[in-house]
Amino acid sequence: MTEVLHKVVDETRQGEAYSPFKEDPNAYSKKFYIESYGCQMNFSDSEIVASILHGEGFGPTRNVEDADLVFLNTCSIREKAEQTVRNRLQAFRKIKENKPGMLIGVLGCMAERLKAKFLEEEKLVDLVVGPDAYRSLPGLISETEGGQKSVNVLLSREETYADISPVRLESNGVAAFVSIMRGCNNMCTFCVVPFTRGRERSRDAASIVAECEGLFNHGFREVTLLGQNVDSYYYSAPDGEEVKFEHLLEKVALISPLLRIRFSTSHPKDITDDVLHTMAKYDNICKYIHLPVQSGNTRILAHMNRTYTREWYLHKVARIRAIMPDCGLSTDVISGFCSETEEEHQDTLSLMELCRFDMAYMFSYSERPGTLAAKRYEDDVTEDVKKRRLTEIINLQNSHSRESYRADIGKTFNVLIEGESKRSDNDWCGRNTQNKMVVFPKTSQPLQKGDYVQVKIKDATSATLLGEMVG
Ligand code: SAH
Ligand code: SF4
Ligand code: F3S
Repeated sequence: MTEVLHKVVDETRQGEAYSPFKEDPNAYSKKFYIESYGCQMNFSDSEIVASILHGEGFGPTRNVEDADLVFLNTCSIREKAEQTVRNRLQAFRKIKENKPGMLIGVLGCMAERLKAKFLEEEKLVDLVVGPDAYRSLPGLISETEGGQKSVNVLLSREETYADISPVRLESNGVAAFVSIMRGCNNMCTFCVVPFTRGRERSRDAASIVAECEGLFNHGFREVTLLGQNVDSYYYSAPDGEEVKFEHLLEKVALISPLLRIRFSTSHPKDITDDVLHTMAKYDNICKYIHLPVQSGNTRILAHMNRTYTREWYLHKVARIRAIMPDCGLSTDVISGFCSETEEEHQDTLSLMELCRFDMAYMFSYSERPGTLAAKRYEDDVTEDVKKRRLTEIINLQNSHSRESYRADIGKTFNVLIEGESKRSDNDWCGRNTQNKMVVFPKTSQPLQKGDYVQVKIKDATSATLLGEMVG
C-alpha cells in the first residue's frame, strides 16, 4: 500500500456523474477540503465523510484556501507517515493565519492513536475524530463552529457505515473501492492498525452487493473489495444465510460479467482453496492476489505473530499457482524487524527467489508506540543495517519485476480502459487481470474509458506493459 497519496475532490471526471454535489461551486455557502493518507481504507472512509458532509450542506473544493473546513485523513503505520501529516498541518498554519474562521480537523488513524493529545500538541487543530466516529461529525462541527474544540475517538464493535453511500472522490468513473469490513483482530506485533481501527467486523453482505450494483449501473466496471484481512470476512444474514468471503466474491461476480472484481488484503493464514476455486471459476474475478509475507524466516514470523511459517506461505503460493497458473502475485516485506539476523534476512531474499513476486511494497521496520513489539522487543537492528537490507530486498524485487513484465511480451491481454495515459493523450491505459498497467496507442476506433479491449504486448518496463490493440 502506498504510504502517502493525495486525494482532493475532482469535479472534472466522469465519476462525478455519481456524485450528489452540484456542479456550480457557488451553490454552497460552506466548503470542505479533504486530503487522505495511508491505505485504501482511508480513501474509502474519506468518501463516507464526504457523503456525511454533503448531508450537512457542505460543498467540495479542490483549493484549500477556499475551504471553511479542512480535513486530513491520517495514517500511523510508520513514523514517516505521521511526519508527513505534521508537515501538512504546518502548511495549513500559514493559511489559517489569514483565515481565522477556517476549521481544521484530523481524522483517521493518527487521530485515534493520539486522541486529545493532538489538541495539546497542535494548537491549530479544532477537531479530532477517529475512524469509527464519523457519524458524529455534524454535531462535532457545530460545536467547533461555536468556538469549542471537539474530540470523538470512540471505537465501535459494530460500525460499518453500511447504510451510507460513499461519494466517489477523485474517481476515474471506472474503478471504485468498496469497504467490506473494518478493524483487525490479528495483532501482528509490529502493527498499529488493531489499536487505531479496533476489532474486526464485517459489513452486511446485501449492502455490499447493492453498492456494487449501483456502481455498475453508473458506468463503473471494476470494484476492489477492501479490508485489512478480507479472507476472514463473515456475515450472518438475518435470514440465517452464512456469507463467507468466497460467497461474497461469487455474489459480486454474478452482478455482471462486465464488472471486474479485485480485493485487498489477503492474509496467508486465512486465504483458502475455496476462495482460490471461486476466483478460478469466474473470469471477472481478477487473477491477482496481494499476499503480504513480511519475512521469509519462521522465527521472525513467530516474533511478528503472523501465525504462519515460511513453509506454510510457500505452500499457499503453490496452491495459488496450481489452481490459477496465470495469477499475479504481490507482497509486503519488512526489513530489520527486532532481532533479525543476517541469515534470517537471507531467508527473506531466498523466499523472494522462490515466489518471484510481480510486485512488492517494501519497508524498513518502524517502531510504533503502543504495539506489542514496542512493549516486548528491542528495536535493535541499526538504521544503517535496516536500510542496507531494504536496498537488497528492493534490488532483488526490481529484477524480478523486470523479468515478470518482460515475460509478458508477445502475450495478448483483455484490458479495461481506465483513461488516457498520464504521459500522452494519444495513448490509452488500463490494467490486465493480473493488475499490470498496460499502455497502448489510440486508433481510429471510437473507444472510451470502461471499454474492454484486447492488447498484444510488444515491450515492457519493470512497471508497465506497452502494446497494441488487436482484433
Ligand atoms: N492488513 C494488511 C497490512 C496493512 S499495513 C496485512 O496484514 O497484510 C501495510 C503494510 O505495512 C504491512 O503489510 C507491513 O508490511 C507494513 N507495516 C506495518 N507496520 C509496519 C511497521 N511498524 N514498520 C514497517 N512497516 C510496517
Ligand atoms: Fe496489521 Fe497484521 Fe492486521 Fe495486517 S493483519 S492490519 S499487519 S495487525
Ligand atoms: Fe495507515 Fe490506518 Fe491504513 S494506520 S495503513 S491508514 S488502517
